[in-house]
Order: sequence, then structure tokens, then C-alpha cells
Amino acid sequence: MTHMLPISFSLNGQAVSIEIAAHTLLIDLVRDRFGLKGTKRSCDMEVCGACTMLVDGQPVSSCTTLAVDVHQREVTTIEGVTPAGGLSRIQKAFVLHGGLQCGFCTPGFIMSVTALLNENPHPTDEEIRHHLHGNLCRCTGYVKIIEAVKSLAAEHASEHADVV
Ligand code: FES
Ligand code: FES
Repeated sequence: MTHMLPISFSLNGQAVSIEIAAHTLLIDLVRDRFGLKGTKRSCDMEVCGACTMLVDGQPVSSCTTLAVDVHQREVTTIEGVTPAGGLSRIQKAFVLHGGLQCGFCTPGFIMSVTALLNENPHPTDEEIRHHLHGNLCRCTGYVKIIEAVKSLAAEHASEHADVV
């Protein structure tokens, strides 16, 4: 018989409690037990970034994170950063700048960019590339993605420019 463990955590701002098998992966918990299918799975070995979620604000590969490790922590998925009936400013920038084609990698990129801009609203090109090195995209060639992130940094700068 599988030994079940009780865990409690915050999922997209909502307190949840559930019993899980000790070997349950975070991606399976979120997709299969909570029905949030926006997070994608591809490599299953922490290489592609498609499964990126935020745990306490930091990007993690949910395909290699044990669900028990998020006990009493905050988990944010792509659903948690997507406004009801619309798109976030980061998602809009990806659309506007052509930062997605098939879209499979996009939820992972959006989560990584969310973490980056929360910590560093004005990243340089090098910082953007470094931060996104764990997210792979087979369609866009990355240039449009970098442009989308740069536009967000510039937007933030103009919003916060001193009025003279
Ligand atoms: S599916 Fe998790 S990193 Fe690729
Ligand atoms: S848009 Fe297709 S993999 Fe990135």
C-alpha cells in the first residue's frame, strides 16, 4: 500500500491541503490532482524549462521537484499569473513581439520572466539571456523573446522615470 503524506501549501494564492504519495512530482500534483494543465512537460529531466513554476517566487523545474518539498511554501503556476479573461503585461509583450509560435514553451518562459522582472525590473540583454538559459524554444530562435522582455524593462523604466 502506498504511504500517503499530508501536505499544505499555497497554490496561486489559495491555501490547499492534500494527501500525496511520497514520490509524487510537483508537476503531477498540479496537473493531475488540481487540474491545472497550463504547465507543460517535455524533457522530464530539468533541461527544457517547459514545466517551470515559481516556489516562493523562485523558478523551479516542477518535473524534478518532489511535491512534498512545497509543504508550507508558495507555488505559483501560469494560471496564477494569468488574469481572468485576459493576458498579463508579460504575456501581451510575448504576443506583440512575436515571442511565441507553437506556444509549448511559453508558459515556462512566462514564469521565468516573471521571476526575473520581480527581482530585476531592468535586466540587461546579458542578464536576460543568462536568466533564460534554462528555457528552451525550438521555434522562435530566442531573438523575439529577448525583444519582448527588453520591451517590458523599457516600459517599466518609463513608468518609473522622474518627472522633471
Ligand atoms: S519538462 Fe521539466 S525541465 Fe523539461
Ligand atoms: S514557441 Fe514553439 S517551442 Fe517555443
